[in-house]
Amino acid sequence: MNFSLSSKAIATTKADCLVVGVPEKGDWPESTTHADEALEGLIKKLQTAGDITGKNASTGVFPLDGRPWSRLLVVGTGKNDDRTPANFRKAVTAVLGALKDGPSKSALITMADTQVKGEQAVTSEEALLNVIGRILEEQLYTFNQFKSDKPASRKLNKVTVVASGGGKALKEAFNLGLATGRGMNFTRDLGNTPPNVCHPSWLADQAKQLAKEYDCIKTEVLDEKQMEKMGMNTILAVGKGSTQPPRLIVMEYRGGKTKDKPYVLVGKGITFDTGGISLKPGEGMDEMKYDMGGSAGVFGTMKVLAETKPKINVVAVVAAAENMPDGGASRPGDIVTTLSGQTVEILNTDAEGRLVLCDALTYVKKFDPEVVIDMATLTGACIIALGNQATGLLANNDELANELLAAGERTGDRAWRLPLWDEYQSQLDSNFADMANIGGRPAGTITAACFLSRFAKEYRWAHLDIAGTAWLSGKAKGATGRPVPLLVDYLMSHAGK
Ligand code: BES
Ligand code: MN
Ligand code: ZN
Repeated sequence: MNFSLSSKAIATTKADCLVVGVPEKGDWPESTTHADEALEGLIKKLQTAGDITGKNASTGVFPLDGRPWSRLLVVGTGKNDDRTPANFRKAVTAVLGALKDGPSKSALITMADTQVKGEQAVTSEEALLNVIGRILEEQLYTFNQFKSDKPASRKLNKVTVVASGGGKALKEAFNLGLATGRGMNFTRDLGNTPPNVCHPSWLADQAKQLAKEYDCIKTEVLDEKQMEKMGMNTILAVGKGSTQPPRLIVMEYRGGKTKDKPYVLVGKGITFDTGGISLKPGEGMDEMKYDMGGSAGVFGTMKVLAETKPKINVVAVVAAAENMPDGGASRPGDIVTTLSGQTVEILNTDAEGRLVLCDALTYVKKFDPEVVIDMATLTGACIIALGNQATGLLANNDELANELLAAGERTGDRAWRLPLWDEYQSQLDSNFADMANIGGRPAGTITAACFLSRFAKEYRWAHLDIAGTAWLSGKAKGATGRPVPLLVDYLMSHAGK
């Protein structure tokens, strides 16, 4: 697929399909006016005749002949007052929905001059080009590696997006959008890969592959022997019931100055979560292949960094293990000494995510982090609290939390903060160890984060619970690529100029 920006006059730019936005009422964007002139008033006529309503994200395709274009795709952009960044994203998504399986081989998209409501940071031409770039990649995603009958190959192979000029800022914004989309698609690929393929060591191979592909990424993998030596007993305890040994995967991207402290990302990489001896019910258990969604988000973000090379240092740590029941598995009641020295009574082997993360959170101290952000499909309770819209956010630092919330807002990859008050900590009391790994039914997402917070005391830390946002169930089952947009936006806002 070929994506590019063009600032040439629309009327002389050939494409199979010309895409223009038309609002429900009021003035048109300049590019739509130019297109209408080139088409001798056709768009106006279609609107007057009622063939175009302008309703947000509605689409209509009209054949043309004797023009630089074979067809015209009109997308509604709604009422001026309703044209929020979210509605703009919907309109762009609808365009791709109409294009992706259509007959056009090439498309010319003119939506970057749409008047969108809101702050400059989300409505400028740069911001819109970023969004368009991301949605192009996101919407053209397919995953049919494991199907014998591949769907008929797509005709569309070239998309040109119209920009007001050829300036560096516009190009960079568009390219960052495309890179973000590709990073999300990498995250989705890892998540969608079946759990008999995606094992901890397969994830480690993906990290080695990234290092091979991009000179700016360095990968190091710790195996179970090295982890044993260090005392990473909780991650080992989770992996014990599996024939697939756990791995601690470290990727470093150093684009900043040597003295700049790194932003550290930590991902939960449970490649399959049966619950272990505290076995989960069978229904829908296949979806626990997505329990490495946090690590997939880390991988996708690293890919975006490698492609766009911002001036920032980022270290990624993935704690990978498979949670299985067998004769070697951990039992409810087992007490394990974590890397930090604190002891944990494993009362439920299904609360394994926090067990692999706690050793990783201790391990990352050695990087002297600027901040640490972990992401994990950690609790079913988070889905009960926030559904599939917002990622749960908990943090020991307000500034970091607010910045992550703002990044989520800007990208539409939203998070919502839950409290991490000390009063919740006592739910983790254990009669026999320093703490239990579960805190009972109430506030399950918070007590999981309370557990993690005990290993994250020495730095500014935020935790993203992506249990409800990393994948979709039902007919549209598949990984979403979240929280890559949020993380990329946050990291870019901290990159040097
Ligand atoms: N990976 C699950 C959380 C999960 C469940 C995410 C369903 C998305 C959908 C996690 O390891 C888990 O099993 N958590 C338990 C914790 C409980 C035992 C305290 C849960 O949420 O039930
Ligand atoms: Mn579990
Ligand atoms: Zn899990």
